[in-house]
Amino acid sequence: MARLLSKENFAKIGEFIYRKSGIYLEEEKHFDKLAKYIDRRADELGMDSFRKYFFKLRFDDKDGDEFQELMNAITVNETYFFREKDQFEVLVNKILPELHAKMPAGKPLRILSSPCSTGEEPYSMILHIVEEGKVVEERDIEVVGIDIDSTVIEKAKAAKYTDRSIHAIPKPILNRWFVKKKLGYELGEDLQGTVDFKVANVFDKTQMRKLGKFDVIFSRNMLIYFDDASRKEVAMTFYDMLNPGGYVLLGHAEYMSRIVSVFKAKKIDSTLIYQK
Ligand SMILES: C[S@@+](CC[C@H](N)C(=O)[O-])C[C@H]1O[C@@H](n2cnc3c(N)ncnc32)[C@H](O)[C@@H]1O
Repeated sequence: MARLLSKENFAKIGEFIYRKSGIYLEEEKHFDKLAKYIDRRADELGMDSFRKYFFKLRFDDKDGDEFQELMNAITVNETYFFREKDQFEVLVNKILPELHAKMPAGKPLRILSSPCSTGEEPYSMILHIVEEGKVVEERDIEVVGIDIDSTVIEKAKAAKYTDRSIHAIPKPILNRWFVKKKLGYELGEDLQGTVDFKVANVFDKTQMRKLGKFDVIFSRNMLIYFDDASRKEVAMTFYDMLNPGGYVLLGHAEYMSRIVSVFKAKKIDSTLIYQK
């Protein structure tokens, strides 16, 4: 039973969360989880009302720590290695060779995984890049992973993974690049640190601008948590962050054509990619 959160307050904090993170919470689906979190957090802070907690969140959170706690509690971080793996194959077999051939020598090719959750997505890119082997021999490739949730970024940096997380990696690749531990697997030393992980909110223009320009952006399974207006805003942020000719790839249930019309859609086998 929720102690502090009422339906009316759910609407207020829901609107606040939406405005700051784009995440759209539905009362029917998310009330209990949020209510439980607020009860626990208010206890930890020694507060006995929603009003006090909400005041702190809005007006007494200079470093953003309270907002970070809330984000860490409400995000859905489901991910695993080689998820929707055709897209990694298109990345290494089509996109990277094409961009490499067009780019001036000496310029690094930059890829963003936004959001990266616990790191499986950007490390899947790295695994495909090193396994393919050709482009990376001739050009520096930088991979950056961002997520709004600071706990998943800490886990991504630690590079320790469960059996469930690695289940889709073919055995020879797993054996080559991971070390078996008592519980689960750890990414081998050769690949640790090959992704630059950072906490960032895709709606925070300053944070996004600081990341610089990219040639490829993967944004899979995040837009599904947003409404149309937020999806549009994020799609335009990605557009601005891409170098001309760069590509965006979305999750299988996400379609750019329903969001904005500034990208040119291309179909490679069954994979849709969007070019600036
Ligand atoms: C389901 S995971 C997807 C991970 C990976 N891209 C994949 O497809 O396997 C969604 C992630 O989006 C992140 N997220 C949600 N809102 C965000 C925002 N405004 N900025 C950055 N990341 C966000 C969550 O923290 C969560 O880790």
